[in-house]
Amino acid sequence: MIPFEHYQQSADYLRSRIGGFQPEILMILGSGLGQFGERVEEPIFVPYPEIPHFRHSTAPGHKGRFVFGTLAGKKVAVMQGRIHLYEGYTPEEAVYGVRVMKLLGVKTMIVTNAAGAVNTAYKPGEITLISDHILLFPKTPLTGPNDDRFGVRFPDMSRIYTPALRELAKNAAKEVGVHLNEGVYMYFPGPQYETPAEIRAARILGADMAGMSTVPEAIAARHCGMEVLGFSLATNMAAGILEQPLTEEEVLETGEACKESFGRLMLRILETM
Ligand code: HPA
Repeated sequence: MIPFEHYQQSADYLRSRIGGFQPEILMILGSGLGQFGERVEEPIFVPYPEIPHFRHSTAPGHKGRFVFGTLAGKKVAVMQGRIHLYEGYTPEEAVYGVRVMKLLGVKTMIVTNAAGAVNTAYKPGEITLISDHILLFPKTPLTGPNDDRFGVRFPDMSRIYTPALRELAKNAAKEVGVHLNEGVYMYFPGPQYETPAEIRAARILGADMAGMSTVPEAIAARHCGMEVLGFSLATNMAAGILEQPLTEEEVLETGEACKESFGRLMLRILETM
């Protein structure tokens, strides 16, 4: 179990870097979406390796730093790059940043990812508002002794993605003319992409999107009482739907091609929050 003091020392260090700045919203940017962080006004950059006890992100398309500042009038902490379990970290380590942000006073998390579309009515480049998720067998970040300073032993997960924020996101999407699906995100540990049989199983279970992140962070955020809003960008159709194999290049290219509509939607959501 990570000692509570480590979280406190990371938070203290960040406070020393950001002065009196008080972030309200944490945004975690997924593969290919990190560029949105460049829009932060009066940014203060803090690379993860400079923060005591902080874990480094090694995934492609992930810068590995915090950007603190203002976006659409809101005080934000943006994580350009996250930690995945496939990098060898435990689920508890993967959500370290979320808990440090809780100690900094953050109340809401907007979590984003690049993922494969399981729902055959979805298209690459479309964004899905996450209504719920499926985590079948992997360990969760709450495995091990519970730290009551973050949350209870058996937290309710029946409304993990805050309904009122989802409504707000749907309205924002209409206002800025961005097509928004709404669906269920299924967690796969990776780093290998799923097999066609796994994707068929996911579809039978009710999944619309499949990816390797987001779920640990959403669980940890809900556990410690944050409101959660999640978005999944379909960078490709999931395995077995089309003939071609899945590649990391396709994932990063689609992220790049969608950054304008993604940015437009995120800014409008922040404005109306
Ligand atoms: N599966 C899992 N993760 C992903 C995918 C996918 O098809 N695309 C981008 N990230």
